[in-house]
Amino acid sequence: MQLRRGELAALIGPSGSGKSTLLNVIGLLDSLTAGELYLLGKPTSTMDDAARTLMRNETIGFVFQFHHLITAFSVLENVLMPLMIRGSKPTPAQTERARSLLRAVGLEQFANKKPNAISGGQQQRVAIARALVTEPALLLADEPTGNLDTHTAGEVFELFRRFNREIGCAVLVVTHDPRLSASCDRTINLVDGHITSDAANVASS
Ligand SMILES: Nc1ncnc2c1ncn2[C@@H]1O[C@H](COP(=O)(O)OP(=O)(O)O)[C@@H](O)[C@H]1O
Ligand SMILES: [Mg+2]
Repeated sequence: MQLRRGELAALIGPSGSGKSTLLNVIGLLDSLTAGELYLLGKPTSTMDDAARTLMRNETIGFVFQFHHLITAFSVLENVLMPLMIRGSKPTPAQTERARSLLRAVGLEQFANKKPNAISGGQQQRVAIARALVTEPALLLADEPTGNLDTHTAGEVFELFRRFNREIGCAVLVVTHDPRLSASCDRTINLVDGHITSDAANVASS
C-alpha cells in the first residue's frame, strides 16, 4: 500500500480486521514482523529506537478516538506538548503556530482553559491542533469521531480536509461511517489483515 503526499484516505473494515495495528505500524508505535515500511521514501526497519522516535515526532501526527489530553495542562499547553517533549521550550513562533491552529479549529478563546472545561467535540479539535503543531507530513487518525455525534464528526472531517488542502499533509483516517469515508479521496478496505479493495472515491469533496 502506498499513501502519496497530500492524499486524504479513509481506512475502513470490520472490528478486528487490523486497522489500528496498521496505523500503529505506520506510526512507528509497533514494529513490523515482515515486510518494510517506508516513510518519506526511507526504509524504517533498520532504524534504531532513537531514529524511530525522531522520525515519529517530526513526521507524524496522531489523533485517537479518545483524545488523551492532559487535564493538568491548559488547552494551549496540550497543543504544544509534541514540541515540549522534544526537550526544549517552544519558541515564540511555535507558540504562535499553536495559537493559530487553535484559531483554525475555532477554539482560541479556550487556550488558557483546562480540557475538562470544554466539550468532547472541542477536546477532539484540540487533539487535532496538537497533532498538527509539528507540521507533520502524515496525520494518522484512529476512529477520531467514534464517540462524537454525526454533526460534530462531520466538522472534524471538514478540519481534516481543510488541513489536508492548506498544509498538504497526507491523512489516513479510520472510520466506520460510510458518508465520512466517501468524503475522502480514497477508501482502503481491510478484512482479516488484508486489503480487499483500494479505490479512489468518485465524488469526494
Ligand atoms: N496487543 C495485541 N496482542 C495480540 N493481538 C492483538 C493485539 N492488538 C490487537 N490484536 C489482534 O489483532 C487483530 C487486529 O486488531 P486491531 O488492529 O485492533 O483491529 P481493528 O482496529 O481493525 O479493530 C485482532 O484480531 C486483535 O484481536
Ligand atoms: Mg481499532
